[in-house]
Amino acid sequence: MRVLVTGGAGYIGSHTLIELHASGHDICVVDNFDNSSPEALNRVTDLIGAPVEFHQVDIRDRAALDRVMAAFRPEVVIHFAGLKAVGESAKLPLRYYDVNISGTLSLLESMQTVGCNRIVFSSSATVYGAPHYLPFDENHPCAPTNVYGHTKHMAEQILTDWTAANPAASVVLLRYFNPVGAHPSGRIGEDPRDVPNNLMPFVAQVAVGRREKLSVFGDDYDTPDGTGVRDFIHVTDLARAHVSAIGYAAGHSGTEVFNIGTGRGYSVLEMVTAFARASGRDIAYEIAARRPGDIARSEADPSKANALLGWQAEQGLEEMCASTWAWQSGNPQGFESS
Ligand code: NAD
Ligand code: UFG
Repeated sequence: MRVLVTGGAGYIGSHTLIELHASGHDICVVDNFDNSSPEALNRVTDLIGAPVEFHQVDIRDRAALDRVMAAFRPEVVIHFAGLKAVGESAKLPLRYYDVNISGTLSLLESMQTVGCNRIVFSSSATVYGAPHYLPFDENHPCAPTNVYGHTKHMAEQILTDWTAANPAASVVLLRYFNPVGAHPSGRIGEDPRDVPNNLMPFVAQVAVGRREKLSVFGDDYDTPDGTGVRDFIHVTDLARAHVSAIGYAAGHSGTEVFNIGTGRGYSVLEMVTAFARASGRDIAYEIAARRPGDIARSEADPSKANALLGWQAEQGLEEMCASTWAWQSGNPQGFESS
């Protein structure tokens, strides 16, 4: 299929390009490098051994997007482009609504100019908010507790309303749990611009000596060791879920939502121990106060994706840590290392 990938230079997008190429799809990437580096696309080109069609375009720029659509005429769009930092979203709400909502509207309108009516959207488990029960299934009520989560939930609603008005349209909403890991080559990976907000990149930067120690946000949760538990999913497994999702979108109309997780949670301290083992480095840490807004546990019920997408996570904790370490140790300053 001809697949337009917005945000394809980013962490999850770059890994997905590799899986799309391996499955024989034609790819066109749109990204404005707001949170990524051209070097990521250079490395994807090296890894797949073929050039990747790329346009430096902001998805809110309708005229530029329309030109890309008219030239490439995608059969499906995978929409990664967006802003994702929970803390920043509270400080810059208008920017988050602009990029994540206006950007999505602009993209849908542009798709309509070429009759493209299939889209796979990057949503997040954060739309569920605090758990009423665990694991989260797709019927769990949605009550996001932060601006970023609101934008994802609203975008889901916009996409759902769009399919209701366009019976031929197909929307696949993928609610990711906690993506971690890197391509096994260690050539691409997660490259946060500032101090990492997320656990895994922070741990990796401690291991490589860029940061002194990890703050573990709370050890008094109602979990086996008192630290937060998350459903970490290897980014390569997540990338493969997108290949399955475009196949699903091609054969169905309407909106369908899927949890993308492993169904197995690990605690913060389990992650620290596993990463120390994979890297052979001590991970210095201290117990700090709980981070406001955090929940004790988040785990997916991925059975709907297993059944309807024919997809399931294959990589375990060891691969998550080993690949992150291959990336971080080979590129201590991320893509700037090259
Ligand atoms: P990322 O920041 O690495 O990638 C997003 C990409 O979109 C970047 O390359 C960025 O430059 C680009 N972009 C941002 N604004 C743009 C704009 N206006 N026009 C064109 N390109 C733009 O993030 P990621 O981790 O790869 O996440 C991809 C998607 O998955 C995001 O929508 C994110 O909200 C969602 N998601 C991520 C996680 C996670 O933990 N990483 C979890 C759940 C959902
Ligand atoms: N944690 C620490 N120290 C850190 C960073 C995180 O102890 O320096 C802990 C957190 O308190 C939490 C766990 O590690 O218990 C995971 O935290 P992350 O920030 O890595 O991930 P979250 O589950 O908070 O959120 C992530 C993304 C969201 C997304 C959500 C669900 O940041 O955007 O997963 O997909 F919505």
